[in-house]
Amino acid sequence: MTGTQTADEPRGTAADGPPNGPLLDVRDLAVTYPGGAAAVRGVNLSVAAGRKLGIAGESGCGKSTLAMALLRLLPVGTRVSGQILLDGEDVLGMKWGRVRAVRWAGASMVFQGAMHSLNAVHRIGDQIAEPILLHKQATPAAARRRARELLEHVGLPAARADAYPHELSGGQRQRVMIAMALACDPRLIIADEPTTALDVMIQAQILRLIERLVAEQDIGLIMISHDLAVLADTCDRLAVMYAGRVVEEGPARQVYEDARHPYGRALSSAFPRIGDRSSRFAPRGLPGDPPDPAALPSGCTFHPRCPVALDSCAVDDQPLRDAGPGRAAACVRVDGAAGGAGTGADEGDGASGEEPSDGTAPGGAQDEARSSTP
Ligand SMILES: Nc1ncnc2c1ncn2[C@@H]1O[C@H](COP(=O)(O)OP(=O)(O)O)[C@@H](O)[C@H]1O
Ligand code: SF4
Ligand SMILES: [Mg+2]
Repeated sequence: MTGTQTADEPRGTAADGPPNGPLLDVRDLAVTYPGGAAAVRGVNLSVAAGRKLGIAGESGCGKSTLAMALLRLLPVGTRVSGQILLDGEDVLGMKWGRVRAVRWAGASMVFQGAMHSLNAVHRIGDQIAEPILLHKQATPAAARRRARELLEHVGLPAARADAYPHELSGGQRQRVMIAMALACDPRLIIADEPTTALDVMIQAQILRLIERLVAEQDIGLIMISHDLAVLADTCDRLAVMYAGRVVEEGPARQVYEDARHPYGRALSSAFPRIGDRSSRFAPRGLPGDPPDPAALPSGCTFHPRCPVALDSCAVDDQPLRDAGPGRAAACVRVDGAAGGAGTGADEGDGASGEEPSDGTAPGGAQDEARSSTP
């Protein structure tokens, strides 16, 4: 994927789709919450069957909002614009009956914190069987049988179907969530921080499980995490979000090991390797927090935190631009031929020829209710 983004030629992320089009194609998606928070602003991405797209970014960058928009799970009064094509079908234009059918069977979601997502007073097997029954894919007996098969598929004994959520460990509960997500044979799974609450060993097991299932069943995967290392280890391509936008994207390993956008660099240096507990901290040396989406900074929204910002960055917004083969980054310092943004004040004559503004060195309209009905 090459070429510079223009207003009428939205840039995609992770296209890699078959000739007949990707499984998921998101164009210019924007989400504004009722209070005015512009949580997602003009995101383009696509995912092909059997491919894995990672979405990274600090807390508050709009990752979960994006995920919920894909399945129309946002609160009443939230404005959503753009296009979400799932297998060619426009999700934003669907009637509610169709949306309900598409959830689980077309695309399903695995959330963080399985304890809160599972119902404490129902047995595991019944909860896995529920979406199968709701989608009329089976008789009650067949749905229960399928639930037990799914448990084995995710590495749990079938007998755990009779357990209640509190009888399982955190890792086992997350496996149950994955079994539920698989229950109706979805084409796409959206996993939002699926391993964040888990211990490192269990995290690795769950990630390998997700990888295996995606490969075996040719499912498309969107994996969301604040942890670039986890995504680089699991996904084919990576999109880094900041303040509701994709600011960098490309092959996962390349983005992790050699980020082009200053924010991508800060994120990747914060997460040195998978399994490292210290990786749960905010980007090292990066001051402040992501901006309030109801009061975004002018120009490049990263400029107040950027160690290599130029004076013009407070004024000029930056679209994604070429950052090498198959790569893009939204930074004035990025040059497709030369590679990534500079990393310090000594690179003052970067793309625009200006000096860094402060010399700081790095280191320093979806009107529908949220539905709980599957
Ligand atoms: N229901 C809501 N109403 C208003 N603002 C919200 C709502 N949910 C999330 N936000 C805001 O949208 C921004 C993005 O949030 P979120 O999508 O949860 O980010 P992430 O998943 O990357 O942590 C945050 O500033 C958050 O406070
Ligand atoms: S150099 Fe400027 S455009 Fe690039 S990330 Fe920093 S503030 Fe944004
Ligand atoms: Mg989130």
